Amino acid sequence: MSGILTIDREKLVTQAKQVQSGIATIAVVKNNAYNFGLELAVRAFLEAGITAFATTSLKEAEAIRKITEESMVFLLNPTYEFEFVKSLNLSMTLPSLDYYNKYYEELNGINVHIEYAGLFNRSGFESFSEVQEVLNHQMTLDEHERFNIEGAWCHFGYADEFDGVYETERQNWLDFIGHFKKLDIEPEYIHSQNTASFSRDGLLEGHTHTRLGIGLYGSKPYSGLNNDLFMQPFDLHSTVVQIRDMDEDMPMGYGGSFVADRKTKVAVVDIGYGDGVLRKRAEFDCLINGRRYPIVTLMMSHMLVEVDEDVSINDKVYIYHPEMRLDEYTFKGVGANSEQLATLNYNTLTKEIIHDS
Ligand SMILES: Cc1ncc(COP(=O)(O)O)c(C=O)c1O
Repeated sequence: MSGILTIDREKLVTQAKQVQSGIATIAVVKNNAYNFGLELAVRAFLEAGITAFATTSLKEAEAIRKITEESMVFLLNPTYEFEFVKSLNLSMTLPSLDYYNKYYEELNGINVHIEYAGLFNRSGFESFSEVQEVLNHQMTLDEHERFNIEGAWCHFGYADEFDGVYETERQNWLDFIGHFKKLDIEPEYIHSQNTASFSRDGLLEGHTHTRLGIGLYGSKPYSGLNNDLFMQPFDLHSTVVQIRDMDEDMPMGYGGSFVADRKTKVAVVDIGYGDGVLRKRAEFDCLINGRRYPIVTLMMSHMLVEVDEDVSINDKVYIYHPEMRLDEYTFKGVGANSEQLATLNYNTLTKEIIHDS
């Protein structure tokens, strides 16, 4: 049996509850819910009290709407499928003045969230004066031709860094939303905070919701946070399929990728980069019978691990485990939390859901 990804549904619900700390949350479920599985995650988050979801994809938005009729389903990307948005009662970003000028006629009746570009600057209005132009233009339209300003939002690109830039992007955004207050416009959703920002600041002034991703899925956005607040609800493991006794200078693998520098043992494990294990991850260790052993080579469907006499055929070999957390390897430079998750290959891994009610 090759790699097995085990997701503990009960833990996922518990983690989603605890990370919100009682604050209304929009759950980011893009990319198949960070690869946990969209339906599994949406149902778990509903159980954890969440009634608002965000994704970049129309297909995912439709799937979410099928699961929950009442929730707010927010499209983070600009879309041009206006009738589709209306038919499913989706909410969508209003990404720029230029977009508004081109499409305002199609936007009638749609719930929009005005996006501020800020320092992240992937999309969004650059200043409130641009928003003011939109507001002025809306007032020239008949009521049935207008959209509904349901929200205002931006995305922080520096919240997991500690070099002072985050403070600037946060202040720019707070100044931006201050204008809505001055105009007595009170959108139902004001949201900017990802897991890092919420962990640093709690809910920012003037906000109605957080907009969390990785924290819901149990990984820490930056190091130094308490593990107990981020309970990892999954593990990834495979098994030892062979053990080779190696003499000193004996090579193994393609081109002799591993050469023993002493008499040792190597376990051949039935998982590889074809299953989504990152090459950088394989520069570190794995967990067998509660002990850490170095991975010495990664191939498409196998991994070589230097072991000792305590390891036997069929032993479980963990790449990720609550005692070998994914975020540990994020902070060791393997790649972002989401990158390590998104790369897991569901076509080759077996997925097991445990504690599924
Ligand atoms: C627009 C937007 N909001 C929120 C999030 C959630 O961020 P995090 O997973 O760091 O909580 C993301 C994640 O990439 C995002 O792209």
